[in-house]
Amino acid sequence: MAAVPTKIDDITSIAPFVIRTERASDVAAREALLDASFGEGRHARTCQRLREGRNPADGLAFTATRRGELIGTVRLWHVSAGDTPALVLGPLAVEASCRGLGVGAALMMCALDRAQARGHGAVILLGDAPYYSRFGFCALGTDSMSLPGPFERDRLLALELRPGALEGASGLITATGVVVPGTRKDHARRRSLPRAA
Ligand SMILES: CC(C)(COP(=O)(O)OP(=O)(O)OC[C@H]1O[C@@H](n2cnc3c(N)ncnc32)[C@H](O)[C@@H]1OP(=O)(O)O)[C@@H](O)C(=O)NCCC(=O)NCCS
Repeated sequence: MAAVPTKIDDITSIAPFVIRTERASDVAAREALLDASFGEGRHARTCQRLREGRNPADGLAFTATRRGELIGTVRLWHVSAGDTPALVLGPLAVEASCRGLGVGAALMMCALDRAQARGHGAVILLGDAPYYSRFGFCALGTDSMSLPGPFERDRLLALELRPGALEGASGLITATGVVVPGTRKDHARRRSLPRAA
């Protein structure tokens, strides 16, 4: 019979992984994981238009760690689908050597749970239905939505956290998250603000 660990260190060394809120110190490892998972071309992807120069939704960026190392990431972002507020999820990635252990599922469940607890009504994403359907995502209802760039329609999926939250949602999905100060978006926003004469 396995001995019951008695010290925090012992427990940490046998815990398969931990999900926690993302920290500023995670950024370098997160970006390296995303480069490894999606390649350098990831910055040109259509969904990046909904994230660049924006902060993720408050309290909705998560990191998976194993023995203190970052092994997974997921974030949620404010968008508007036509006039309907929603969140967009992504990117979701798990370090290649740690896949198939449930890390991706744990990140997804945590992100969806916290989003619902914070009162958000719906989550949209662009991804593989065979993976995301297990969390309740489907393409039903997204046929009248579009993204600011090329995308495969059958990969545009949605999940209502509150029944009816996406009813009537149609049109272009646009970023509505807080602009990161000092980015090009911030400068453009400042230029377009009304000024005193
Ligand atoms: C997708 C990803 C996040 C899953 O992470 P994970 O920790 O391995 O996921 P889980 O352990 O929770 O689930 C593994 C299961 O999902 C399945 N799966 C993984 N990717 C899949 C995909 N694209 N389509 C269908 N099923 C998929 C695995 O085959 C496995 O199936 P099983 O449970 O029947 O064995 C991970 O494979 C990854 O980072 N991939 C590269 C980046 C990426 O493609 N991100 C998602 C964009 S759509």
